[in-house]
Amino acid sequence: MVKIHLIEHNGTRHVVEAEEGVSIMQAAINNMVPGILGDCGGSCSCATCHAYVDAAWSDKLSAPSDDEEMMLDGVLEQKESSRLTCQLLAGPMLDGIVLHLPERQC
Ligand code: FES
Repeated sequence: MVKIHLIEHNGTRHVVEAEEGVSIMQAAINNMVPGILGDCGGSCSCATCHAYVDAAWSDKLSAPSDDEEMMLDGVLEQKESSRLTCQLLAGPMLDGIVLHLPERQC
């Protein structure tokens, strides 16, 4: 299992576990973490799974796809660390990853 730390805008931290290959969005939904909506079910077409990757983890992720980049252009308060969590799959390289959730998704 891969541990994922999700920190709400108000500072509340959620530590969830995901099987390898499961998206961080799905792991958040499965554990009822507020702030990740995942309206499109993970098909990279809603951007309601937006989160900011903690600076300590930014170089451990592969670059976003063109589709993800396009969707990220539409999020509120886009930052360099913005990612769509449905596009980040749990795996050994991400064990312990920290993501910060935006104040709101839309
Ligand atoms: S769940 Fe819709 S873009 Fe991630």
